[in-house]
Amino acid sequence: MEEAKVLIDTKDLVKTYGEGEALTYALNNVSIKVYEHDFLVILGGSGSGKSTFLNMIGAIDKVESGEIIVNGRDITKVSDKELTLYRRNEVGFVYQFFNLLNDITVYQNITLAPGSRNKERALKLLDRVGLLDKKDKFPRQLSGGQQQRVAIARALNKETNILLCDEPTGALDDASGKAVLKLIEELHNEGKTIVFVTHTKEIAQMANRIITMKDGKVVSDVRNEHVVKAEEVEW
Ligand SMILES: Nc1ncnc2c1ncn2[C@@H]1O[C@H](COP(=O)(O)OP(=O)(O)OP(=O)(O)O)[C@@H](O)[C@H]1O
Ligand SMILES: [Mg+2]
Repeated sequence: MEEAKVLIDTKDLVKTYGEGEALTYALNNVSIKVYEHDFLVILGGSGSGKSTFLNMIGAIDKVESGEIIVNGRDITKVSDKELTLYRRNEVGFVYQFFNLLNDITVYQNITLAPGSRNKERALKLLDRVGLLDKKDKFPRQLSGGQQQRVAIARALNKETNILLCDEPTGALDDASGKAVLKLIEELHNEGKTIVFVTHTKEIAQMANRIITMKDGKVVSDVRNEHVVKAEEVEW
């Protein structure tokens, strides 16, 4: 079988907070490879280091030590300017609390986001997430589930291969959460690489690979032989 391509190769990532007796290892020597077309779930309880890891590979936060190799270069060692370009053009991010800008419309949230490429495409994406009729509304006029679908459309307008999702259903009711999971499943089927953080075991069953973290460490990394469709996930 052909070896899958490694898209993101992290080695010995360390991140600490506090000092002395309050010293906490948010990441304690974490090494994770993300392969092309993975649907990778990072599973773990609160405080296990999941968001810290995602924020490192999304270049939202900086490591203390370790390497993050993406497309042949170590993003922990590039200039701030190059890092901004990486964030804009190479990774899409979906957050637990949507992170939309509240003073601009839905359409503007998609078209004015750093790295957005294409205004016509924005309309297609809004149609795809079922919100074309909301394009001139402001985020506060939308439900949580609708806001999250706008955030996904915004991430997709960058045309990146990698979508990083941090507990994207965490603030949603079951029905809206399921709509978001279905959308992410579709994107994976279309070839996107997904790194999905959650503390919910049932949702993790959608992944083809599940990494479990505890206290800043990877405690298991397994292939999931029984992938569950978004439609069938119950939590
Ligand atoms: N800005 C910060 N200042 C101090 N400690 C922090 C900070 N951010 C994270 N930590 C600590 O680092 C550890 C890992 O946090 P992280 O946010 O990665 O956990 P998580 O797995 O995403 O948890 P959750 O499921 O609750 O979102 C925790 O012990 C947390 O308290
Ligand atoms: Mg978190």
